[in-house]
Amino acid sequence: MSQQLNPASLSQTAEGTSQPADFASRMEGERSRGKGRKDRVVLKVDNLRIHYATPQGDVIAVSDISFKLYEGETLGLVGESGCGKSTTAYGILQLVQPPGYIVNGSIEVDGTEVLDLEEEELRKFRWTGLSLIPQGAMNSLNPTMRVKDQIIDVIEAHEGKQSDKEALRERIFGLFQNVGLPNRIYNMYPHELSGGMKQRVCIAMGVALHPTAVIADEATSALDVVVQRIVAQTLIKVKDEIGVSLIVIGHDMGLLAQIVDRIAVMYAGKMVEIAPVENVYAQPLHPYTQLLIDSIPSIKERKPLKITEGITHDPRNPPSGCIFRLRCPFAWGHCAEVEPRQIMVEDLHEVACHLYDEQFHERRANALATIANS
Ligand SMILES: Nc1ncnc2c1ncn2[C@@H]1O[C@H](COP(=O)(O)OP(=O)(O)OP(=O)(O)O)[C@@H](O)[C@H]1O
Ligand code: SF4
Ligand SMILES: [Mg+2]
Repeated sequence: MSQQLNPASLSQTAEGTSQPADFASRMEGERSRGKGRKDRVVLKVDNLRIHYATPQGDVIAVSDISFKLYEGETLGLVGESGCGKSTTAYGILQLVQPPGYIVNGSIEVDGTEVLDLEEEELRKFRWTGLSLIPQGAMNSLNPTMRVKDQIIDVIEAHEGKQSDKEALRERIFGLFQNVGLPNRIYNMYPHELSGGMKQRVCIAMGVALHPTAVIADEATSALDVVVQRIVAQTLIKVKDEIGVSLIVIGHDMGLLAQIVDRIAVMYAGKMVEIAPVENVYAQPLHPYTQLLIDSIPSIKERKPLKITEGITHDPRNPPSGCIFRLRCPFAWGHCAEVEPRQIMVEDLHEVACHLYDEQFHERRANALATIANS
């Protein structure tokens, strides 16, 4: 990775037009994000830890992560494959299946502790409190059921048998309108729909019961770039129209830049940085976030593709101290001894790295000087 440490907390700005800053400004004009209210928290995750038991020991999939989702906000959750994004989503909805299990944590939705809910309460909570559009959802639509029946199933499972069929049909047409689907698909089967249409059916199902928040796990993966954009825009349109908060899980930093308010970056089960999207693209603070931003390809500026290895350690035996230290160009002895805590460097911007601890300001300055001279 190129060494690129430009911490906002030091009031430094990126020299010249680095690719990430350039990228962020390019996206600024196109971005269509909701203006989340930062005064009401709808989802609060505290110290969530989830393991998968294996004969060789527990895989630590999610390791004591904490974050908040605000009303009307769209939060992007990013990180490389296997870092624990889907497990986090399943954990929040209490859908982790054995051999996975929640070790500890607290998940509050609108003030209700999800981990205290009984099975029947949980069943109601899913879809109405918080709904999940799971990874690969569009391929899990029942191929033998018409679209309308799959949506009706979701509605009736929570609201009971609907006697007014005409009203039910109008309600489904309303959902189709929300997600930009034509009414003609009402009687169709999933195989008659394109990938983008199927994904929008999944979004319609996810918002059918007007939940407080929706988690969309890789909703745009496996779609071509144009359709990805349409599906992403659909998510934002629905969010604004229905008034839900949204967590978008994804790999595509470019697409996320256009639709989210804040980005939460995970590395090997840990939350390493959470920040407003502008900060992440213009001045990423955590060395891992810098690596992610540095990996975004640019058409304007052709540069060699960076080949970097992925998560290097065994998830059953994470390194002591900082989870990223085996790949971090700035690591020093302290990083192996003490796990960094999440430091609030400015409003809504948190980073888990010792370099942002005031007691190490000299080391941070030295790191900056090294980079400036390199
Ligand atoms: N059933 C399981 N048994 C053992 N380990 C598992 C199981 N399911 C997931 N894991 C491990 O948990 C970790 C987190 O997986 P998870 O699917 O949450 O990652 P992810 O960030 O969603 O990845 P992707 O981007 O590929 O979807 C990985 O190390 C994965 O190998
Ligand atoms: S705490 Fe140390 S090893 Fe971890 S990211 Fe910061 S400098 Fe690198
Ligand atoms: Mg996943």
